[in-house]
Amino acid sequence: MSNYFDEELIEEIKERNHIIDVVSRYVPLKKSGSTYKGLCPFHHEKTPSFVVSEEKQFYHCFGCGQSGDAIHFVMQMEHIDFIDAIHMLGDWAGISIEEYTTSDREKEEIHIKNQLYEINREAALFYYKNLFQTRNDGLKYFYERGLNSQTIKKFGLGYAKDQWELLNRYLLTKGYDQNLIYKAGLVIKRKTKDGYYDRFRNRVIFPIINVAGKVIGFGGRIIDKGEPKYLNSPETPVFNKGNHLYGLNLSKDVIRKKKQIVVVEGYMDVIGLYEGGIYNVVASLGTALTKSQGYLLKRYADEVIIAYDGDTAGKAATLRGLDVLKDVGCSIKVIELADGVDPDEYVRKKGKDAFLEKIKKALPLVDYKIKLAHNENDLTTTEGKIKFVQSITYILKTLKSPIELDAYIQKIALAAHISPEAIKSEIYGNNKGNYQKDSASYKNKYRSKNDRYTNKYDIKPIKPIQKMGYIEAEKSLLKLMMDDKRLFDKIKAIMTCEDFIDEIHIKIAKVMDDLYETNEFISIEMILEKLKQEEIPILHDIYKKVVPIENVNKAFIDYMDVIKKHKLITRKIEIENELKRIEKMEDKTPNEIVRIRELCIDYEKLLKELKKQ
Ligand code: UTP
Ligand code: MN
Repeated sequence: MSNYFDEELIEEIKERNHIIDVVSRYVPLKKSGSTYKGLCPFHHEKTPSFVVSEEKQFYHCFGCGQSGDAIHFVMQMEHIDFIDAIHMLGDWAGISIEEYTTSDREKEEIHIKNQLYEINREAALFYYKNLFQTRNDGLKYFYERGLNSQTIKKFGLGYAKDQWELLNRYLLTKGYDQNLIYKAGLVIKRKTKDGYYDRFRNRVIFPIINVAGKVIGFGGRIIDKGEPKYLNSPETPVFNKGNHLYGLNLSKDVIRKKKQIVVVEGYMDVIGLYEGGIYNVVASLGTALTKSQGYLLKRYADEVIIAYDGDTAGKAATLRGLDVLKDVGCSIKVIELADGVDPDEYVRKKGKDAFLEKIKKALPLVDYKIKLAHNENDLTTTEGKIKFVQSITYILKTLKSPIELDAYIQKIALAAHISPEAIKSEIYGNNKGNYQKDSASYKNKYRSKNDRYTNKYDIKPIKPIQKMGYIEAEKSLLKLMMDDKRLFDKIKAIMTCEDFIDEIHIKIAKVMDDLYETNEFISIEMILEKLKQEEIPILHDIYKKVVPIENVNKAFIDYMDVIKKHKLITRKIEIENELKRIEKMEDKTPNEIVRIRELCIDYEKLLKELKKQ
């Protein structure tokens, strides 16, 4: 994509948008040595591990690993693509993008997008003004539903009168091209004769605004009864329903702070909750959540609270949408509302505190699914019990942690009066071997330090160091060196920086060496400053290494051994290859025969060394 833009423009954008200024728009930064530090906006943390380098003009979070330059930062924060980020940064710096872009195709694309945004904005204003011009059914409708004029203004709500061509004519007189008005999805082509008519008529209007504040589409609700209840803009170059969440433009800052997001189904739910004083809310626009919406949610919040209408929450399509969220790594909870009650109605009737209480009591997705299965089956009958256990088996199989799995099994066993063994054998199959195999794979995959506390699955701590490859051993060693100057000195007494095998590790060791010349303690940021951006992920890995403190000395020796062993093996292969090469030669020179003998002696020594390892 970046090819569409002139390199010069990108440089200019970066130069004029200083990374510290850009990041500071979103994150309070504190100067710390030669770098800046703050709480990472991409994951939840209490102590800052988000570092911004002024000199290098990039950011890196040692908590979650996100990193990049100013453009990348804006893309991540606003969930926009490269083109839009260039525009946003261009706006901030007062650079006219269109002057710079070289590719005609790109110019055209940007031009069209900009015009569509403009037309949509005009249309939104038009609908908004309609609400307040003369007495009309739209305003009456909103007032009857309890909205106040502040809310109407905040959400930019509007009204499309019950006439065929009002908006189209208005936009044409404003000078917009008919074809673009059509492209924006605001009008529909007539079938029988030439011309176009307004898509939205006699409907109240909900403009859909993206996080950059641009109007990208509309939803229109019928005022009287009729079908369809809501009409939405079609897909256009600026509107892809599955990529957006209604209301995020207003709620993003609160969500970022709270790290929690309430997802509702409809426009009116967002607005209702907002009026009720709950601001961390977005709507999925009536369809099952898409992966792209999932990523959007994940970027802003750690916890997603699903607050769907009582009667849709349990539907299979809805649950599949929630699995999408789980796949992107969100923690999901579900609020239960009575059938036919939606969040809008709930908060209007019961108030903010009652809804907050609902949030507090929201069930984790797995519990929610189990509860649904419970409700669907009559557990007083054998058949019901069997069906119930079968359906929860399916749910439990998705659990990653054996501890969690065990906890659920116990819980279900108690609630449904089924023995834990029966549930287990349903999950693992009756075949004992199978069970063993499954639990063995859990064992390796999900070993965590928490597993120590229970040992239901007979998890024996394996010796991590012995299993480690040399790359990991080097990283651990570097971590030890970074954390403690005494260890650094100790390691340096045994090996030099060049003794590391990996090139970047050598560089990092040298950087530390330099830093320790003048500092008693060194920080991760100090090292970061000396590296190239593409080397940061390696530093990140090192920083994340957990070295057993109980026995640093032993760990230290083990790491050295792993590295040494790797070197010996590499050397062994080298010798073997050289021997093969010389042996293949037809007429060997005396020199070569001597060489073979030397190599054989070396080889023997090497084998002995390796044996000792
Ligand atoms: P709801 O029927 O729950 O709408 O549909 P709502 O927002 O709560 O509206 P009220 O309270 O009945 O006025 C949820 C969402 O599904 C989409 C809309 O985005 C709506 O807000 N939807 C619904 C459609 O796109 N088309 C429809 O015909 C119905
Ligand atoms: Mn509703």
